[in-house]
Amino acid sequence: MEIRKIGVALLGLGTVGLGTYKVLMAQQEEMPYKTGAQAQIRRILVRNKEKAAAKIGNAELITDCFDDIINDDSIEIVIELMGGIEPARTYIEAALRAGKHVVTANKDLIASDHGKLMDLAKENQCDLMFEAAVAGAIPVITPLKQSLAANHLSEVMGIVNGTTNFILTKMSQEGMEFDEALALATELGYAEADPTADIEGLDACRKVSIIASIAFNSRVSFDDVVTEGITKLSAHDIRYAKEMGCTIKLIGMAHSDGKAIEAYVAPMLIPENHPLASVNDSYNAVFVRGDAVDDAMFLGRGAGELPTASAVVGDVFDVARNIVHGCNGRISCTCFKHLPIVPMDDVYSKYFLRVEVEDKIGVLADMADVFAGLQVSVEQIIQKRKRGDSTDIVVITDKVREGDFKKAVQCIAKKPTTRAIRSTIRVYTCLLYTSDAADD
Ligand code: NAP
Ligand code: HSE
Repeated sequence: MEIRKIGVALLGLGTVGLGTYKVLMAQQEEMPYKTGAQAQIRRILVRNKEKAAAKIGNAELITDCFDDIINDDSIEIVIELMGGIEPARTYIEAALRAGKHVVTANKDLIASDHGKLMDLAKENQCDLMFEAAVAGAIPVITPLKQSLAANHLSEVMGIVNGTTNFILTKMSQEGMEFDEALALATELGYAEADPTADIEGLDACRKVSIIASIAFNSRVSFDDVVTEGITKLSAHDIRYAKEMGCTIKLIGMAHSDGKAIEAYVAPMLIPENHPLASVNDSYNAVFVRGDAVDDAMFLGRGAGELPTASAVVGDVFDVARNIVHGCNGRISCTCFKHLPIVPMDDVYSKYFLRVEVEDKIGVLADMADVFAGLQVSVEQIIQKRKRGDSTDIVVITDKVREGDFKKAVQCIAKKPTTRAIRSTIRVYTCLLYTSDAADD
């Protein structure tokens, strides 16, 4: 068998870079049978050369100078695993202009520059692959672009951040404190260099913007995705959710009726009988609904060294096959529609509201009146535990317009008997899985 040798360079040797190095080495023998080519790592770019050399026991491959890569004609694939916008963007653009194919896990950059980079790749007949940028190991981009291309998709949603899912799992199942769970997620290599991006929902926001753009063939920028993280959730919320037969997950949601797109990231109460409720630790899950496929779900590790490397190296194999067959640049940007984004006030959801009030007769009825006056239909309203002279009231609404719900919350906040609005959390609704079992 004739084996085509393909030179590759890694930009970055951190969690995912080292994982990619290990997986590429482990595949040396089998890759030629799978692709007709063999990837050979020629250079690895880092800032700290000594640290990197110690990781792989080979100083010769390591450089801190990008010119060593861009000027090396034997390097045909550049694998960008540094993260952040710059210098990643400059290096990727330079690689594409030099006719080098690019594989990246960089969701920040893809979310901000997807269209421009895809166009540049097309101009240079190069592949630009980014499967690892969304949901780590789980194949999501390739199915959306290829296997499910025959559908009009109406929904892509799910758990797309491993760090927050890990934290919420540890808090709800082991009673772990938020900070302890975050430190553990960081130690395990799940969290971003600055974990604010994970816990404030920005990492999930970028992933939602990428998958929504591909699913609905219309550009969804990360500014279009209204984003809420998990930092405002308290142990009380998690406990109340449990009592109601629900668990709290950070959900990325993108929905389209073909005329407009709704996209947001927010913590949600998920009924325990829904498959997403049992997606724990660093696992991610993505649901897709289409007119031909009906429902499909993808599940797997959403972060971590080897799981993420699995997706990166899968892309490298794809590029290698294309090189062998002389057919790079087959799939370019597919955003040919220009659909508007639905303003968040016009999005309909069910809500969980927890209010701390003075423990007085009539407070409950008063609150019910506010909802009725603003056409916010209530499914349940329950008085919870007393703490001194205050008590918690928990309300579950029916599906209501967000703008109306917000007005109701503002009115309740102004009542003299209201001590504090403790939390407002969306409740996931789906015809098959209702939260009706959620009795106190
Ligand atoms: P990381 O552990 O922080 O590693 C970053 C690597 O890039 C380090 O080797 C660093 O080198 C190098 N680097 C950073 N800036 C550089 C620069 N200006 N010049 C040269 N080298 C530079 O990051 P990671 O967790 O592996 O993440 C990498 C990418 O994968 C990010 O885009 C991330 O969002 C994405 N991703 C991560 C995961 C995950 O589970 N971690 C999953 C999916 C996607 P020095 O150490 O020498 O500074
Ligand atoms: N920090 C990200 C997560 C890594 O926790 O999901 C994968 O993109």
